[in-house]
Amino acid sequence: MTTPDPAHFERHADIYERARPAYPEELWRRLGDLGLLTAGGRALDLGAGTGQATGRLLAEGMHVTAVEPGPGLAARLAERFPQVTVVPTTAERAALPEAQFDVAVAATSIHWMDLSVVLPKVHDALSSDGRLLVWRHVFGDPCVPTDFRLRVAEITHQRSHAMRPGPADIDTDGWADSLEASGLFRVEYREVFRWSIRLNAVEVRDLFTTFSDWSPVEVSEAEQAVRELGGHVVEHYLTPLLVLSRV
Ligand SMILES: C[S@@+](CC[C@H](N)C(=O)[O-])C[C@H]1O[C@@H](n2cnc3c(N)ncnc32)[C@H](O)[C@@H]1O
Repeated sequence: MTTPDPAHFERHADIYERARPAYPEELWRRLGDLGLLTAGGRALDLGAGTGQATGRLLAEGMHVTAVEPGPGLAARLAERFPQVTVVPTTAERAALPEAQFDVAVAATSIHWMDLSVVLPKVHDALSSDGRLLVWRHVFGDPCVPTDFRLRVAEITHQRSHAMRPGPADIDTDGWADSLEASGLFRVEYREVFRWSIRLNAVEVRDLFTTFSDWSPVEVSEAEQAVRELGGHVVEHYLTPLLVLSRV
């Protein structure tokens, strides 16, 4: 494995853009049903990356401010979405206007942030009835064992215990607790979206290359495992969502 490093996404931006699966349609539908994606509303996208959430927020008619520390990623966002206000720094350092946003989104990004710094800033940046939306992809549903997942477990088993993918990835209660511990936000809605995707060996290689804790050798082993299992696999993934209101 490699030590997780947020600059990983900057280095692999092209692969990330083509290989990371989109967030499930059910998640967007639910956010719409909850009245959180209003045309003309103002969204703050924290750790926007290549714009997977940014693009959809724009498509919903929202005005988007995107915070992204990777300089190449920030430049790419600005070029791809000229209507977005791009803030090219970390969420910890970003100067944000007060009471300006209806929603703040952290899509597969909040685990990179220092919550003690970022949550007070986001609290101040949201309007009084604004919401913080936190979701992430969890790559591998432990409830659906597959031959490929056994091979993935064999690959990651060689890592030290602390660095293996594990329960923390899907510990939505743990995330909720750490976000509520600030005393600034309260979870008002949660849901876990389950979905699957069929991937060939090259798609697995590209997707796993985007994982910041996977080494190139481990990625090659995963690609080889797909070839040995017939050239494609069906992966079962989770996307837990938390909607938090300001306290
Ligand atoms: C896994 S990517 C998610 C990107 C995008 N939100 C998506 O859903 O595809 C994590 C992103 O968080 C960014 N990031 C890392 N540390 C950050 C920080 N302290 N503040 C803001 N963004 C950060 C990385 O540069 C990267 O673009």
